[in-house]
Parts: sequence; structure tokens; C-alpha cells
Amino acid sequence: MNKILKIVNLKKNFGAITASNDINFCLEKGEIHALIGPNGAGKSTLIKQIMGEIKQDSGEIILSGINISNLKTEDRIHLGFARSFQITDVISDFTIFQNVLLAKIGKEKTFYNFYSSIDSSEFALEQIKSILLKIDLWDKKETPASLLSHGERRQLEIGIALALDPKLILLDEPMAGLSLDKIEKMKVIFNQIKNDVPILLIEHNMDVVFSIANRISVLVNGKIIASGSSSEIKSNLDVRKAYLGTA
Ligand SMILES: Nc1ncnc2c1ncn2[C@@H]1O[C@H](COP(=O)(O)OP(=O)(O)O)[C@@H](O)[C@H]1O
Ligand SMILES: [Mg+2]
Repeated sequence: MNKILKIVNLKKNFGAITASNDINFCLEKGEIHALIGPNGAGKSTLIKQIMGEIKQDSGEIILSGINISNLKTEDRIHLGFARSFQITDVISDFTIFQNVLLAKIGKEKTFYNFYSSIDSSEFALEQIKSILLKIDLWDKKETPASLLSHGERRQLEIGIALALDPKLILLDEPMAGLSLDKIEKMKVIFNQIKNDVPILLIEHNMDVVFSIANRISVLVNGKIIASGSSSEIKSNLDVRKAYLGTA
């Protein structure tokens, strides 16, 4: 199944405001799908409905073929949502390694039993190593989280999300507040992890969006007005008029 997340005819009004106007959207295996649009377009409202923090008026949200439209947030997380940077808790006194290990233990209730046998502890260590390599923090695995820079902390948060073995990752403004070289580093990391876990990306930095998104959907006034590759979106007249302001 290539469609990891599918949103069908989603509608949400706040009084007279239409925040989601019949939204159809999907996130496929292996992709970074960016959701862009001006302030007030309805991006956060869409994410909150996906997470179950706000109830849609109508429409459906399907995760790997399972209709999750009426599930509570914690059940959705259990089924495989990871949302950086809000559900992840970095513990400052713990090292990078311990933080990722703790997330793994939290995920696998039986992990303690696993961990007591040599074979599976080796296996677990390999998994954690592979995550730390992906987020480019293997060299700093013994560093306490309290000593991390802003950017490294964000890398660790991604690592914690990965330890939960999610079906997808929702990233809301992951580049906010990062320096240019940190942004470049994050781009490399996202490009790597998308092969394991597809990413739904909300990001205001258009350079980032156009360089790493495989697909972009543009939300304006609660409606998706275009969906396509970077070059398709850049050259789309409706998008330029409504959003990029360069028609
Ligand atoms: N809880 C709420 N109650 C009333 N109106 C809301 C609420 N949340 C969002 N809105 C309105 O819905 C629209 C979409 O908001 P939002 O999803 O936050 O947009 P974005 O994240 O794209 O900036 C806006 O007009 C906003 O004012
Ligand atoms: Mg918002």
C-alpha cells in the first residue's frame, strides 16, 4: 500500500469560517509532501484534525487503510503518528543515546524482556545506532541533552520520533529558528529518513520546500488549489496569484 495517509472530503467550519473546504490529500510511501499556504489558510486546523485534536465536521482520515476519523489522539499516535516537536519529550539529564533508548523502551512494552537477552539487546543497540547515524548524532551519543544546541536538540527530537517506529512524521515548521547551515543539515536528514518514513511537512521557508519536497499541496482559504512537484507548483498561475504573489 503506497498511500500511508489519505484524507477524503474533509470539512471543518468555525462558525462562518471555512477552515477545511472539502480537502482531499494523501501522503505516499517514500515522499516528503509539503503543505503550504498563507496565514489563516487552514494548515494547523488540518494537522489538528489529522492528530484528532479537533473533530472534523465530515469526511474521513485513513491511516494505512484504517479509518481513524473517530479515534482519540493517543490511539492515533499508537497506530503510528509521530509529530515532532510536540509529543516528544527530551530529558535534559539523559544522553542522546539514553533519550532514544528510552523512546524505544516506551514504544515496546515487551522491550525490557527483549533487552534482557543478549541477542535482542544487540539488535536494539543496532537499531538505536542506525537512528543516531540517520540524525547525524552518533558521534555525540554520550552528550547529555542539556548540552545540545538548538539545532542538535531538534535532530534528537527527530530521532525520538523515529524510535517510535511511526508510519509517518508530521513536521510543523521544523526549520524555524535554525541557522542556514543547520537548515542544510536538516534537509539532508529529512531526505534520508523519508525512505523509511514519509514526511508531511509544513514549512514557511520556500527554499526548503522547493528543494526537498517531492510533492507540494497549496492550501488557500481551506481549499487545496494545487498539488504537484516543485516546478509544477512554481509555474502554477493560481498559486502565483493566491500565494507566491508573483503572477
Ligand atoms: N479554534 C478556532 N476557532 C475559531 N476559528 C479558528 C480556530 N482555529 C482556527 N480558526 C480559523 O480558521 C482559519 C484557519 O486557521 P489555521 O488553521 O490556524 O491556519 P494556518 O495554520 O494555515 O495559519 C483561520 O481563519 C482561523 O482564524
Ligand atoms: Mg498555523
